Amino acid sequence: MEDYSSSRRLVKDLEPGEHIDQVFLIRETQLRTTRDGSFYIQAELGDRTGYINARFWDATADLFTTFTSSTFVNIKGRIELYRNEPQLIIDNFRPVEASTQDLGEFLASTEKDPTLLFERIKEWAGSIKEPYLARLLALFLEDTSFVEDFKKAPAAKEYHHSFLGGLLEHTVSIGELGLQVCQHYPQINRDLMLTGIILHDIGKIREISSEPGFPYTDEGELLGHVVMGVMMIEEKLKEISDFPGELRQKLLHLIISHHGEYEWGSPKLPMTLEAICLHYLDNLDAKMQAAIRATGEAEDRQSRWSERLNMFDRRRLYKGQE
Ligand SMILES: [Fe+2]
Ligand SMILES: [Fe+2]
Repeated sequence: MEDYSSSRRLVKDLEPGEHIDQVFLIRETQLRTTRDGSFYIQAELGDRTGYINARFWDATADLFTTFTSSTFVNIKGRIELYRNEPQLIIDNFRPVEASTQDLGEFLASTEKDPTLLFERIKEWAGSIKEPYLARLLALFLEDTSFVEDFKKAPAAKEYHHSFLGGLLEHTVSIGELGLQVCQHYPQINRDLMLTGIILHDIGKIREISSEPGFPYTDEGELLGHVVMGVMMIEEKLKEISDFPGELRQKLLHLIISHHGEYEWGSPKLPMTLEAICLHYLDNLDAKMQAAIRATGEAEDRQSRWSERLNMFDRRRLYKGQE
């Protein structure tokens, strides 16, 4: 009988030689065939600290169906070294009911304090002098269910800020950059800029679910966060009867054009100072966050190069020698 450790181990700390008995979140699973024609399950299993490749030898189609029947699986297994990377060899598995698990253990979340991040947004909203924009932001920030969702939403399914609180972290990051850019270019309308930054990705609250794997909602898949963000703003604008027409257009243009290119899902290209600025800041923050993650990744410290990244046209990024 193997002696499996029952105390919970974080994925980032797993070492070759360990025997474990604990629950993981399932990310990817495939039923594959070996050269001699027998089946094995290849899976990526994780927790809030990362993912590990896992294998279950001598699988069958039925066992594969059982394996993939839940989002969580209890594994008895051992860690081995495969091509210089830790790999989990599964001796035994048992699907686990999602409702019995604490999601916070399995989903990565922002390392920053969400309360402090949100305070920053409230500060910016409070500093806006244009009365209609100030009123609009107040309507959002007084909406408790909006605020709750805004604080926990990821900013992306993958690519950048794909963790709980990612949307808030991304929004505050662009806000800090935006304040500096507004000082540098006084021609930019600061109130409009800040309002646009705060609201530019709010559609993601409804586009991406905060469940494991951060799947798109049906509405998100069909409409996308750019259009959904406009719809959410329009809902609030109904409560401000005399909101000026041109201001509404300039604000909605910020949301509509922030992806900056037609092929990046932007229905319109930026046509105001604020929209140009928002697009570049958004792009800068998404790319820097992805690059910082990829070059600092704990699970791959041996390598001087990152994985190939879709966001950088499948280039590898150089991490340096140490
Ligand atoms: Fe966006
Ligand atoms: Fe964004």
